[in-house]
Amino acid sequence: MSQIQNEVIATVAERSNLGDYDQACAQFSWEEVKKHFTWNETGKVNMAYEAIDRHVEEGRGAKTALLYSDAHRDEEYSFLDLSEGSNRFGNVLRKYGISKGDRVFIFMPRSPELYLSLLGILKVGGIAGPLFEAFMETAVKDRLEDSGAVALVTTPELLPRIKRDELPLLKHIFVVGGGAQQEEGLVDYDAEIAAASDSLEPEWLTPEDGMLIHYTSGSTGRPKGVYHVHNAMLQHYYTGKVVLDLREDDVYWCTADPGWVTGTSYGIFAPWLNGVTNVIRGGRFSPQDWYQTIVKNKVTVWYSAPTAFRMLMGAGEDVIEQYDLSTLRHVLSVGEPLNPEVVRWGTKAYKQRIHDTWWMTETGGQLICNYPGMNIKPGSMGKPVPGIEAAIINDQGDVLPPYSMGNLAIKTPWPSMMRKIWNNDAKYEEYFRIPGWYISGDSAYMDEEGYFWFQGRIDDVINSSGERIGPFEVESKLLEHEAVAEAGVIGKPDLVRGEIIKAFVALREGYEPSQELKDDIYRFVKEGLSAHAAPREIEFKEKLPKTRSGKIMRRVLKAWELDLPTGDLSTIED
Ligand code: WT7
Repeated sequence: MSQIQNEVIATVAERSNLGDYDQACAQFSWEEVKKHFTWNETGKVNMAYEAIDRHVEEGRGAKTALLYSDAHRDEEYSFLDLSEGSNRFGNVLRKYGISKGDRVFIFMPRSPELYLSLLGILKVGGIAGPLFEAFMETAVKDRLEDSGAVALVTTPELLPRIKRDELPLLKHIFVVGGGAQQEEGLVDYDAEIAAASDSLEPEWLTPEDGMLIHYTSGSTGRPKGVYHVHNAMLQHYYTGKVVLDLREDDVYWCTADPGWVTGTSYGIFAPWLNGVTNVIRGGRFSPQDWYQTIVKNKVTVWYSAPTAFRMLMGAGEDVIEQYDLSTLRHVLSVGEPLNPEVVRWGTKAYKQRIHDTWWMTETGGQLICNYPGMNIKPGSMGKPVPGIEAAIINDQGDVLPPYSMGNLAIKTPWPSMMRKIWNNDAKYEEYFRIPGWYISGDSAYMDEEGYFWFQGRIDDVINSSGERIGPFEVESKLLEHEAVAEAGVIGKPDLVRGEIIKAFVALREGYEPSQELKDDIYRFVKEGLSAHAAPREIEFKEKLPKTRSGKIMRRVLKAWELDLPTGDLSTIED
């Protein structure tokens, strides 16, 4: 095979929480991990209790839990502060009749209130639904409607994007930082918090009770509500220990927003279950700002994404020289393929090996990873987490030998596996169509040493800057534009973003192609759906290739784009 596989960035003498990989795998049992949690004996389960209150009860209340900063705020919260703050919001939720199983969404930029709200929702047994702040009207409405959300936490700036008249189930909107609210259904979050008690008995749950819904995209249909339960804490705690390698005195920074699963599993749960100081930086990406965040907080463990590393690489090593990044001990990446070149650059520029990790919204936690103390093969996602069995299988379910390409599959179950797709059993079952296996939708191969190598998506899902975009959602929005008759959307390879969104559009009668029209269509999607889902490239076509049943053939669009053979066209319309 290719040369890459012979290249290894060898282990520097590192002490890790994992120890010897093969030995860890051989000795592993989830029952042992469970023993860390008191619910193992008491039966009283609640993620927010384990992540926050428990540290207070065990005498670690004064320890710094959150170091928050953005352009306007610079704040520090202890575990006790987070415990009391989330109790306050829990009490507010109870006052408004919100209880176990209710879906409560959060739609706001990163801020301490976002984290306190999320923990408060979990404390009363609610199911939290974090939404990325860039979502526009349609995207927000689809998600609130599908989940049947009864309440929402948001800010005055984002409030106009909520189509309240079309969401009859949405009873209460808690507005953060908005002063007194006059309208029916709007609640002044700050006033309520100030008046609420800071003590609360959490709702005691079972490990299988609902905790979170993250919406994510597939290649067909509306976004899918991936439903996670409290039991996921086993995976978050364990991988926090052995993959993030978190230790008592670490200062950990995960750059992801809680609107995406990395921002909850590894931006909230893994660090706090391990009792570690967590850095949250609000605002947008800039190399200077990011390096400054590491320096100012003396970050030791840093979890980010390939697009960010590529942008930092583009900013150059001169920038790095202005910052003291020597506190860094462990650096990790997730979300899209991590180029070997970036791993090599990181080794030189940061004197850190960048550890790639593979997992998905649906898996709830890390599954295939590079570990501290293990040889890294640049370009490989690494090896399965102890306790996880991964394999390459064909469509019939046969396990394939090393170097065969096929479906990347995981033996079911594992603690953080999604438990359903909200309102859509058929979609859920598609992932488990081969008995005993979860089919990821990624294709990969394994080498003879058990390292996994990502090859691509099997479906049409687009990964742009690590954000997963379903072509169907974009196509649906495009079709709402008055000039658009047909639309097909694909991912076009891009050196920095991995892929960008490209739309092929056939116009309605009476419309002529023009740059103005392209700009208008781009703006239409950006303002209706979200900036990251808007097509950076639009190409007008007379007609789009369709199957006889009228389905746009994205595979043909992709072949056009990449100058590849179009393959079997026997099902094409004419
Ligand atoms: C898809 C899942 C869960 C973290 C954020 C992404 C791609 C993820 C890697 C990696 C190559 C990766 C896969 C996967 N992906 N990590 N290390 N190397 N590709 O979660 O939005 O659910 O996307 O992201 O294609 O299926 P997501």
